[in-house]
Amino acid sequence: MDIKQIPSKDLKKADIFQQVILNPEKRKRYRPWSTVYKNSKREPSLFIGAYDKDKLIGIVFGFIKKSQILLGEMAVSEKYRSKGIGSKLITYFEKQSRKLNKKYIELGALGSAEKFYLKQGYQPLLFAQIPHNKVPKHYKKIGFEIIKETNYKDAKKLTIKVNKLDDRLKIKAKKDFNTDNVIYLFRKRL
Ligand SMILES: CC(C)(COP(=O)(O)OP(=O)(O)OC[C@H]1O[C@@H](n2cnc3c(N)ncnc32)[C@H](O)[C@@H]1OP(=O)(O)O)[C@@H](O)C(=O)NCCC(=O)NCCS
Repeated sequence: MDIKQIPSKDLKKADIFQQVILNPEKRKRYRPWSTVYKNSKREPSLFIGAYDKDKLIGIVFGFIKKSQILLGEMAVSEKYRSKGIGSKLITYFEKQSRKLNKKYIELGALGSAEKFYLKQGYQPLLFAQIPHNKVPKHYKKIGFEIIKETNYKDAKKLTIKVNKLDDRLKIKAKKDFNTDNVIYLFRKRL
């Protein structure tokens, strides 16, 4: 097994590979192919593949943001899971990320992969998006430690410090902040 930067001629194939695993119902894409393509031109070192001989068996895609690197997509072929390939991909991704002088790697995880990121030393955070007209009056005094607050056109976005991964906390945050849009984010300092 070989881990390396994906050659640009293979990127479309790698994109289809991750779509089949991460978006099997073919919902509307959150990150269109044009964004993947543009970012791979800008920073190709963050588009990494695991290969068994010539066969692609895992990918990780990264995107440069202002102060952090977003780990956007990560997937390993079902047949090859739990053999340490995901760990090797993320370790290589972190090595490439360290060269880019950013503070963090950040990602939003699917429920099934949360344990994987914890094992890799990522710190969980809660991320809540609240439409402006639904923001509770005393949201700063609810008891959650808000470490970042940003106002977008449509909603207020809060990043909240937590000490552990706990679904009850997510449910409480949904109720207290009056929104269904609460997810766990994971972050590792570079
Ligand atoms: C998450 C993923 C990339 C991990 O790749 P991998 O090659 O299986 O990872 P590793 O073998 O290095 O590590 C596996 C460890 O992570 C955890 N883990 C990985 N996938 C898991 C899953 N689907 N459910 C529960 N735990 C999982 C386990 O603790 C596992 O340890 P174990 O093998 O001792 O049980 C892979 O499972 C995958 O592609 N899943 C489907 C897509 C996905 O969820 N991607 C992440 C999107 S945020």
